Amino acid sequence: MADVKKFTRKELSERNPKQETVFIIDNVVYDVTPFLDEHPGGHEVLVHAAGRDASEDFEDVGHSFDAKELMKKYVIGELVDEDKVELKKRQVSWEDSAAASEASFMSSWKFPLLMGILLTVLYSYLLG
Ligand code: HEM
Repeated sequence: MADVKKFTRKELSERNPKQETVFIIDNVVYDVTPFLDEHPGGHEVLVHAAGRDASEDFEDVGHSFDAKELMKKYVIGELVDEDKVELKKRQVSWEDSAAASEASFMSSWKFPLLMGILLTVLYSYLLG
């Protein structure tokens, strides 16, 4: 990949939000200045997010897949490594859903069925 432009949180926070609306979502830097009037959520929220890390606000809204595809158009770079945060949120939610699917697996018909098959195999092995 070509050289990615790197920004620090400090320099982004010092930019003038009236001239350019630049913010961070998940360590990636976006310039949504040309998108302000098109944003279905209105331009105020974007201007308010300018210069900041908007990851939580963005996630709280529950943006659609289409919105996430669209945002790629406005990427201008990423944070310098020292300013990056670990993207824990995604992992936690992934673990949550993994734990949830495990729980439903245990309580569904699949788990007793699997145990039944295992015990049958074990018995026939021990008695055979
Ligand atoms: C590049 C960044 C962004 C893009 C491309 C984007 C795109 C969109 C799109 C396409 C929608 C329509 C609903 C959907 O498809 O999910 C939307 C709704 C919205 N967005 Fe964004 N958005 C961005 C950043 C943000 C940020 C940083 C905030 C908050 C600070 C925000 C707040 C909202 C709100 C409040 C709505 C309205 C939700 C509703 O009416 O239910 N957006 N955005």
